[in-house]
Amino acid sequence: MKLFVALLAVGLPALAAAHSWIVCTDYLENNGWYWDAAKCRAWPRNAEKYNLRDRQFGTAGGDANGFVHRLDDHPELTPLCNDPRDDATSYELPMAAYYLGQKVVLTHPINNHANDPRCDIRGRADTQNLMFVVDGDEDPCCINSTKLIQIMDMGVSPYGWYSDQFSEEVLRTYPKVGFQNAPKFCEDPEDAMGTYNFTIPMDLKPGRNTFVWKWIRNPAVNPFTTCWEADVFATKAERDAHYLATGRTTEDMWDFYQVNNIVDGVIMDPIDPVDPIISG
Ligand SMILES: *[C@@H]1O[C@H](CO)[C@@H](O)[C@H](O)[C@H]1NC(C)=O
Ligand SMILES: *[C@@H]1O[C@H](CO)[C@@H](O)[C@H](O)[C@H]1NC(C)=O
Repeated sequence: MKLFVALLAVGLPALAAAHSWIVCTDYLENNGWYWDAAKCRAWPRNAEKYNLRDRQFGTAGGDANGFVHRLDDHPELTPLCNDPRDDATSYELPMAAYYLGQKVVLTHPINNHANDPRCDIRGRADTQNLMFVVDGDEDPCCINSTKLIQIMDMGVSPYGWYSDQFSEEVLRTYPKVGFQNAPKFCEDPEDAMGTYNFTIPMDLKPGRNTFVWKWIRNPAVNPFTTCWEADVFATKAERDAHYLATGRTTEDMWDFYQVNNIVDGVIMDPIDPVDPIISG
């Protein structure tokens, strides 16, 4: 019995390791180090049902009924989204609102798929990180649907064992493009947070749109997807009015490295953006 339990304990993290998904669809901090649910103002479909806000970051049910959506051996036949579109019931945790030209920050758990020479990991692949909007109001059939319009290529993270591919310095420098933008990966390879940013195209039609994230880790592994809706406004003023009306902050995202002064990997005193003026 003891042996069985020990085997389970070893086996489970390995099972959980091969997944990722988008946790937050409008996060306030770009390139951040640690997940903080208070910085998340919008969520993907059925985030409440899967308890994405309150559960430990990085866990989302790797089982068949979980939030993770990996397309199977027939990605051209597999439904694109884990949960079918149903705006009326899917947003107990609120839906995002974006404005044209906005830079949006997404968060995802790293689930062991990064590289950093400081923990002696260099060879984990990253192959494709794309953002789409859906043309129309219905979920596209599948990954090769012509209704998927690519709006951003979020790049591919560097990896490789040989110094002629990427130097140690490149592999341990953040921010990184692609999936592996997780500066605290070595502290918690399973559950560390990664962030992406993407830009809402200026020519997107305002109104409610469906957004789709697609990640291919390695060409032999089928894509992972997460789907969500967002109300897109022509201007930031209109988006702000919507967020105020729904009890959310209108702050624009900030960049971790612009608000923190990092020396030798340690956060020093906060950078004061303006000299305080003391009146009276
Ligand atoms: C998707 O691919 C399958 C075969 O791989 C094909 O039958 C289907 O017509 C394709 N659909 C689109 C919209 O391209
Ligand atoms: C936003 O994402 C793009 C694409 O990955 C990347 O090139 C860029 O450096 C990111 N911007 C910031 C400020 O992190």
